Amino acid sequence: METHADLAQAIKLGLRSGADDIRLFAAKLVRKYRQHSPDLAKQIDEYLRSTPASSPLRRKPSPAETMQDASPDGPEAGLALLRIDTQGASKPVLSSDLDASIQQLLTERRQAAKLQRLGLEPIRSAIFVGPPGVGKTMSARWIAAELGLPLYVLDLTAIMSSFLGKTGTNLRAVLDYAKKVPCVLLLDEVDAIAKRRGDLSDVGELKRLVTVILQEIDAWPSTGLLLAATNHPELIDPALWRRFDLTLEFPKPSKGEIAGIVQRSLSDDATKFEPWREILSSLFLGTSFSDIDRTLRQFRKAVSLKTATPSQLVEDYVRRQTINLDKAGCLDLARQLAISTDLSHHKIHDITGVSRDTIRKYKREDEAGNGN
Ligand SMILES: Nc1ncnc2c1ncn2[C@@H]1O[C@H](COP(=O)(O)OP(=O)(O)OP(=O)(O)O)[C@@H](O)[C@H]1O
Ligand SMILES: [Mg+2]
Repeated sequence: METHADLAQAIKLGLRSGADDIRLFAAKLVRKYRQHSPDLAKQIDEYLRSTPASSPLRRKPSPAETMQDASPDGPEAGLALLRIDTQGASKPVLSSDLDASIQQLLTERRQAAKLQRLGLEPIRSAIFVGPPGVGKTMSARWIAAELGLPLYVLDLTAIMSSFLGKTGTNLRAVLDYAKKVPCVLLLDEVDAIAKRRGDLSDVGELKRLVTVILQEIDAWPSTGLLLAATNHPELIDPALWRRFDLTLEFPKPSKGEIAGIVQRSLSDDATKFEPWREILSSLFLGTSFSDIDRTLRQFRKAVSLKTATPSQLVEDYVRRQTINLDKAGCLDLARQLAISTDLSHHKIHDITGVSRDTIRKYKREDEAGNGN
């Protein structure tokens, strides 16, 4: 009992210092002791509640709490702006260039101490640029997991659309916090700051925000990793741009990467779609990883629930895609369908609109080419 009293007292004193880690530790103790030493747990909980948190990060807020905390006058208005990403990480499919750059970043981060001993700085910040659904967030998640650090996400769109006026202060509090704890911080949609520039009423506030962010990036400690992501590089302030140590371009998937994501998304059902793989891959050119993944997952569900066969699904998909194809594209598709599937001439004509004679010609050319 005496030990309990001492422990409670130590926690009480610690909480007064306003340090973030002691709050987290105290919360953990409350959970730990709740069952076997309810009195101690209750005591610590009371101390915890009676000392205000200095940290903008308390725990992952529920959507309802987010709404509540986002009120400009809430006690911890900055809190809801920072989200802990808890999704499991898996390695994204990346071009070899991009993969090499990310490996380099990881190596520098892992060997930071060694670099510093040599008077060199590891990469502290990087900005990811690319269209939606190509793996920017996924890569940030992967990097954090590889480094064994939590990923905190600061959604700048949410900041910009919520409470202008206090935003600068809140933003600084959040960034200050993220600088102190070991983590990877992702500034998602960093262009949100720039997007609002046309809105004259916000100009003063915007300037302040940009200044805060610029200062914070400059002062980012080499113990932490700051990542940013954007779909709109053209909106990014050049001053912001050049402050990042590294810029990584995330393009839409190439043929090779499409093959990779198709394999991965089809997973155990890959063999069922084998005859269609090539056609799907060429139709997927120009789409994002996430669209491909979504389409193939829908296919897998339909096949598993027996609501459609692979060929029905693919035919339907191909038909929808031909709307976007020009004449040359349709001819190309008809050629591929003739060469690599067992579809009848009639069906290929039906799907692509290409004449049966032409389709027959493709088939003959292919057979001649194969020496048949
Ligand atoms: N390179 C990739 N490899 C494998 N899967 C990917 C890849 N890129 C995207 N995906 C799939 O698409 C989903 C969305 O990707 P992600 O959130 O990384 O996109 P993003 O580039 O951050 O897009 P946005 O700009 O819209 O935020 C991922 O969860 C994953 O399922
Ligand atoms: Mg993203």
